[in-house]
Amino acid sequence: MPKVIIAPSVLASDLGNLNCECKRMMDDGADWLHMDIMDGHFVPNIVMGAPILSSVKKAVPDIFMDCHMMVTEPGRWVKDIAEAGGASYTFHLEATDEPMDVVRLIRATGMKASVAINPGTPASEISDELGNEVDMILVMTVWPGAGGQKFMKECMPKVAELRARFPHVNIEVDGGVAPKTIHYCAEAGANVIVAGTAVFAAESPRDVIAFLRNQCTA
Ligand code: DX5
Ligand code: ZN
Repeated sequence: MPKVIIAPSVLASDLGNLNCECKRMMDDGADWLHMDIMDGHFVPNIVMGAPILSSVKKAVPDIFMDCHMMVTEPGRWVKDIAEAGGASYTFHLEATDEPMDVVRLIRATGMKASVAINPGTPASEISDELGNEVDMILVMTVWPGAGGQKFMKECMPKVAELRARFPHVNIEVDGGVAPKTIHYCAEAGANVIVAGTAVFAAESPRDVIAFLRNQCTA
């Protein structure tokens, strides 16, 4: 299985102190920071966009920004996010009929390319061609749009199916992942772990990050 990566979702952070929050998470052992970008169309919320990412990247140059694009026009933001310092760009399969075109667009900027599926989208919608081309597949474990929701265990068979079909691709889980639910993700074969509330609301984010990592490497 590919390397275990822990990516706290900044949606649950003190957004007014975002630079410090990202720095703090890296000091506490985070590998990546998960940045949720919403356009108010694909999901009903708006949080942040490229200018905010750019400011974070300037303040924390070593950061790996894992950009989760919950947007209806995935191709539209590729250039802006790349210029802002995004390292990985995840678009939703539900948002496009031409996923391979979006992947090519992302690749041309030098960013890692990744595709996400919502809880209602079967894993079979990821074609062999697409799965073998991307760096990562994100299996949502909540309906996207907000932090702090309940983990959907029923998404785990999709993680297992994709891990079996694409043994060398990163498989990411996002939504409701916490010390109580991490074992489901680890058993199914996820290796990139996003956790917002569980990390930021913890008394010791460092301990939670270490715990999540240990559960996946055990
Ligand atoms: C949901 C976002 C998630 C969210 C995770 O739309 O994509 O990244 O912030 O937060 P928790 O871990 O609190 O469910
Ligand atoms: Zn996310």
